[in-house]
Amino acid sequence: MSKVALITGITGQDGAYLAEFLLKKGYIVHGLKRRTSMFNTDRIDHLYQDPHIENRNLILHYGDLTDSMNLTRIIQETQPDEIYNLAAMSHVKVSFDTPEYTANADGIGTLRILEAVRLLGLTEKTRIYQASTSELYGLVQEVPQRETTPFYPRSPYAVAKMYAYWITVNYREAYKMHASNGILFNHESPLRGETFVTRKITRAVSKIVLGVQDNLFLGNLSAQRDWGHAKDYIKAMYLILQQDEPSDYVIATGITTTVRDFVKLAFAEAGVTVTFAGEGVDEKGIIASIDETKFIEKVGEKYLAGLKEQIGKAVVHVDPAYFRPTEVELLIGDPTKSKTRLGWEPEYDLQGLVEDMMKSDIKLMKKDDYLKEGGYRVMNYFE
Ligand code: NAP
Ligand code: GDD
Repeated sequence: MSKVALITGITGQDGAYLAEFLLKKGYIVHGLKRRTSMFNTDRIDHLYQDPHIENRNLILHYGDLTDSMNLTRIIQETQPDEIYNLAAMSHVKVSFDTPEYTANADGIGTLRILEAVRLLGLTEKTRIYQASTSELYGLVQEVPQRETTPFYPRSPYAVAKMYAYWITVNYREAYKMHASNGILFNHESPLRGETFVTRKITRAVSKIVLGVQDNLFLGNLSAQRDWGHAKDYIKAMYLILQQDEPSDYVIATGITTTVRDFVKLAFAEAGVTVTFAGEGVDEKGIIASIDETKFIEKVGEKYLAGLKEQIGKAVVHVDPAYFRPTEVELLIGDPTKSKTRLGWEPEYDLQGLVEDMMKSDIKLMKKDDYLKEGGYRVMNYFE
């Protein structure tokens, strides 16, 4: 008998990788997707199965974390062995603009799922993974952050996720449910949403080296994040639900890097050296030199002459519009518990992550039609 998983947020970065991973393991995967005016399934189109096919193992359901009855019906119909609650309004800066909606979806949404499982009498059958976050540590009380580090959330997103964290713990203790939190530090990939900083950087750097964009505007260049690869992190989610006992785990690399250094690494991946000069809002990233052999290998000879004209020019600038009302300056996780108890080991280091993202974005931005359009939407990641 195949195991049945329900993934909320299946159209997101993590949902797409997790769905692919579980399907390969022989699961029947149900996914919750929102109704949108345009298709929002780009990331899972390669997994899609026509509804007229018999014995499908990927089935999508319209739904929303803000709709209890809809969630209850889907859980009743699908009778999942495992629920991965990945759906969320996941952008920290946007949560300052939409705090009430964020609380509803990210906080109460988790309660709706837990309560549906309880009311449907599935507490012994269904295991629940809650997508908790290193944003809970916010104004960090300890370095590095581990499972026992006190939380100090710094955004409406993090406060909503704090409710979700504790309601998961509470349902575990009150009703003996197999409900666990993965406290995941930032994880990125070629599928990362385009407005998160790493993807914003790799997309912009790709366009700059191809000569179709002049400047990249960023916010806080000194913020430090513990960045891993989403492909590694979804394996940890799976491992958490395979344990006999539910528990909460930090998933991180243990290494932290500034946004500024991520920019340098992204350019370096194309053979371009960028140096930073100036301070505060006047800080600039300037193209200092080009390793021509590497540039030709990674980007292509026909783009070299154009970029050489940019040597000495500032291409990275600070725009305070991207500052947050309250910022999380430093995140660095201690993954000891997940390594020892789950046996979780990431395959990618930061260099491998940047290489994967840059390779994918250079390829994507090169597409003739994409460049002609000055394109925004990302097409077919899995080509
Ligand atoms: P993502 O790419 O932004 O995906 C979020 C998913 O949630 C999308 O499928 C989105 O649907 C869906 N969604 C948003 N609001 C919803 C609602 N009201 N009802 C139903 N679905 C909704 O996020 P991700 O990076 O994959 O992250 C997955 C989860 O892990 C999130 O809960 C996030 O907060 C958490 N997390 C992420 C990281 C990280 O570094 N990536 C770290 C820690 C925790 P659409 O496609 O229609 O927008
Ligand atoms: N998005 C963005 N855009 N961030 C910028 C920019 C910019 O132009 N310039 C600097 N930053 C800084 C932010 O201020 C923040 O300190 C850091 O880059 C990372 O920002 P994001 O990539 O937006 O991610 P995040 O750390 O706020 O949140 C992500 O990771 C969390 C886990 O720690 C999201 O995936 C959350 O959903 C997740 O919980």
